[in-house]
Amino acid sequence: MIARIRNCLLVCAASALTAGIAYGESEPTALVDQQHCMFCHTRDAPFLAPSFQQIADHYRNMPDAQPMLEHKLRLGGKAHWGDTPMPPAAERGGPLSAQDAHTLVQWVLSQ
Ligand code: HEC
Repeated sequence: MIARIRNCLLVCAASALTAGIAYGESEPTALVDQQHCMFCHTRDAPFLAPSFQQIADHYRNMPDAQPMLEHKLRLGGKAHWGDTPMPPAAERGGPLSAQDAHTLVQWVLSQ
């Protein structure tokens, strides 16, 4: 029993570590799917929207960016990158809690 728990701890720690090295924050997949983020964004190629890497590069060193982006992710806001603003959460897949918006923005900024 103890050995099994120890095994699990090792495996979990190892996979967390790999995800951390490969992608910064690990992807909050359920939220990303529910909110259809990848419908308009990709990690590294601008498409219908700026790539998450462009966004991360742009905001990484701006201390106020995180709360602004969380607010925008939940309620929408004016466009910063072009003429098309991002639709608010309710139009993308359902309302988004402050906690979930925080998780998503942290993940985007770690790309
Ligand atoms: C319907 C298409 C669409 C979907 C779905 C979408 N986005 Fe966007 N997103 C955009 C567009 C277009 C922009 C550029 C808006 C602008 O010019 O500020 C954008 C901009 C952003 C920005 C930068 C905002 C800024 O003010 O610079 C972030 C962060 C972002 N998206 C994250 C996400 C995340 C996370 C999801 C999923 C929860 C998501 N987006 C889903 C279209 C989309």
